[in-house]
Amino acid sequence: MGSRVAVVVLTGAGTSADSGLATFRGAGGTWEGYRVEDVATPEAWARDPALVWRFYQMRRAGLGAVEPNAAHFALARMERELHAAGHGFTLISQNVDDLHQRAGSTVLAMHGQLLQLACERCGTVTVDSEHLDPERFVPCDACGYERLRPDIVWFGELPKLLDEIEAALAACTHFVSIGTSGVVYPAAGLLARARERGALTFVNSLDQPENLHPTDRFLPGRAALVMPPAIERWLVEWMK
Ligand code: OAD
Repeated sequence: MGSRVAVVVLTGAGTSADSGLATFRGAGGTWEGYRVEDVATPEAWARDPALVWRFYQMRRAGLGAVEPNAAHFALARMERELHAAGHGFTLISQNVDDLHQRAGSTVLAMHGQLLQLACERCGTVTVDSEHLDPERFVPCDACGYERLRPDIVWFGELPKLLDEIEAALAACTHFVSIGTSGVVYPAAGLLARARERGALTFVNSLDQPENLHPTDRFLPGRAALVMPPAIERWLVEWMK
């Protein structure tokens, strides 16, 4: 075996677009008719929890109608094969859907998860895919508080798992960005940080993301079409 590789992959909404989930920006993406500040900030939750809850309940219910696509499965295979051969692999996702997990990946879900609810009073995080009524809040089983919130990182809040992400980045030899517009920080800064530490960098997206640099290898096109053959090639090349 050649030298050890440590691959870090960062995914965004474009990775799930081929499964039928809308992106936020670019390529026709919208926030499903909502303004960000009305549904994805702690201020919105404090001001109008019923509106925010309805928005997230719709998105939580929508997960039942979608399946992982070929890009999710190819990344899960990449993780299995690299780990089996003693290499490093870390998948970081900004996505709050559970499609990576369903495809078999281990994920650092830095913006939270739709299928988790969190108690603002006692801090308990609950996995829940059953209470999907848009008009009913879910109480906390642990402390009885009447209204769990979506366990989602909203604008103005700190992303999760930053220590684990730092550790992966510090060892990274190859960095792959998939389906993210490169505008939301700190996620958007990971590509430049990997580049600075000498990693080879690869970027797939439909539109050129804002954080693309001339030294990145850009792979334009739909993730479900572009990523499986790219991953196939990399596994052969990187594990020589
Ligand atoms: P965006 O919606 O900002 O960007 C999606 C990117 O995916 C765009 O660059 C598109 O060109 C690309 N794209 C669309 N369809 C694609 C496809 N089939 N294959 C490959 N690429 C495709 O989504 P993110 O960058 O993930 O935060 O957004 C970052 C964060 O902004 C999200 O995590 C979300 C939002 O605020 C939270 O929910 C906390």
